[in-house]
Amino acid sequence: MVKRFSISLEQELLSKFDVYLSDKGYSNRSEAIRDLIRKALVTDEWEADVEVIGVITLVYDHHVPLLQEKITELQHDYYQEITSTTHIHMDHHNCLEVTIVKGKASVIQQLAERLIALRGVKNGSLSMSSTGGQLH
Ligand code: NI
Repeated sequence: MVKRFSISLEQELLSKFDVYLSDKGYSNRSEAIRDLIRKALVTDEWEADVEVIGVITLVYDHHVPLLQEKITELQHDYYQEITSTTHIHMDHHNCLEVTIVKGKASVIQQLAERLIALRGVKNGSLSMSSTGGQLH
């Protein structure tokens, strides 16, 4: 069931919001507000340590000494969270590694941060989705 409610906003904030809508390709304000609310609630769930599923993406130069070993070491430290890893040799120097992870949000975030912080990792990101499950 869809409920309606009204929002009061300063003109200036509303104008900025309308620019944001057109930049992001939203066709109406309700759709954008729904997405923003969902995003805020998901962030809140992450902080509450619910179970999440996620993807860690790394781009790195495999010639950097010990980098590959450090990545493997970390992945073994978190073997319970790692579902699978796909390694793609992009070119002579660069590798793309995509790791599917599942577990407690804070643990997944910690793993991603540790991987992304390694020297030689040029690009890294984590995207997570809540599975709706609560971990105890
Ligand atoms: Ni490679």
